[in-house]
Amino acid sequence: MMIKFVAFGLILLTFSFFLHVYIINILSDIYQTKEKITSKILYYEIIKYSLIYVSIFIFSWILSNLLYSIIYFLSFTYLGLIIYISMFCAFYQIIIKLIQLSPFISKIITIVIPVIITIYSLIKAQILYLQEESIVYDGYNASIKILHVSDMHLGAIYQKNSVEKLVKVINQQYPDVVVITGDISDGSSKVESDWMEPFNKISDNIEVLYITGNHENLYGKNEIISEIAKIRKIKYIGNSDEIIQIKGINFIGVDYEYKDAIKRVKNIINKNGIQNGINVLLYHIPNISLQDLNKAGIFLMLAGHTHGGQIFPFTILAWLGNKYFTGLYSNNNKNYIFVSSGYGTALTPMRFFSKKMIGIIDIKGRN
Ligand SMILES: [Fe+2]
Repeated sequence: MMIKFVAFGLILLTFSFFLHVYIINILSDIYQTKEKITSKILYYEIIKYSLIYVSIFIFSWILSNLLYSIIYFLSFTYLGLIIYISMFCAFYQIIIKLIQLSPFISKIITIVIPVIITIYSLIKAQILYLQEESIVYDGYNASIKILHVSDMHLGAIYQKNSVEKLVKVINQQYPDVVVITGDISDGSSKVESDWMEPFNKISDNIEVLYITGNHENLYGKNEIISEIAKIRKIKYIGNSDEIIQIKGINFIGVDYEYKDAIKRVKNIINKNGIQNGINVLLYHIPNISLQDLNKAGIFLMLAGHTHGGQIFPFTILAWLGNKYFTGLYSNNNKNYIFVSSGYGTALTPMRFFSKKMIGIIDIKGRN
């Protein structure tokens, strides 16, 4: 585990190193301090940030306290800020090839705008958006309201308070079932037992189902599952052949580990003899096609993982890299995939061109 954290820390470090070299070069031009920015200063800066990042990752499982959370929050907000500054420095370089800019305007573009976007992104990551979808299944003679939560990322930033807010929304919505499709933990710190306790305040007639995502593996999947097992209300179904039937709908859970997830799904469906049922699959990564879901007998898949790219420019990369990126997808209303852009955030606590989301999906028969 330690090797994973250090390796990840070093990747971030290398990434931020190149951003710093680039930013310092552009800003020293604008502030006309080229002669003052010596390689000595640059190396000092790089060593300083190296120590911050590496220490955070090395000590992340030792220091699970307020101080660690503050350092983590500031450090990754700073990472977001330098990503924005780099982006606007690149934009500035394009603009000055076309028109002359005064030093004042140059400073606005390269510093003031990125700082404003950073503040906006921090606020945006806290604003919850309920995405409501209604799906019709011919021949279904009831209706079910599914509340879909994904990517809570509990750890250094999101803790018990975040779960309490979520449970409040769940209780206001009166769903028939709550499904959690992975990344309940972030991996940035231990998930304390009491953080998940607010889930026990959900009314008795609402089922809560859970499968794991890739981030559970960062801190240790077994630890998280044993913490979840202490929460009476949550049922972990990611590694079980059992299906959960609620209001005539069959819920199937497959953990992130299953590389051939669709084969696993087919086995569960055959074992339970539900080939002709209304089957809903919980799977963290939206990398199963609508065609494959159709062949396997899955009506609806609920997934997360993409975070909607979380911040620009990663929103573009995530959009290009994920056929099912965020929201509802369908092949002529035969099968559906709903992808949540997540409740929490990974690394930087910011969102820009992506939403903190809870999905509300109603399945109904035709009137
Ligand atoms: Fe995630």
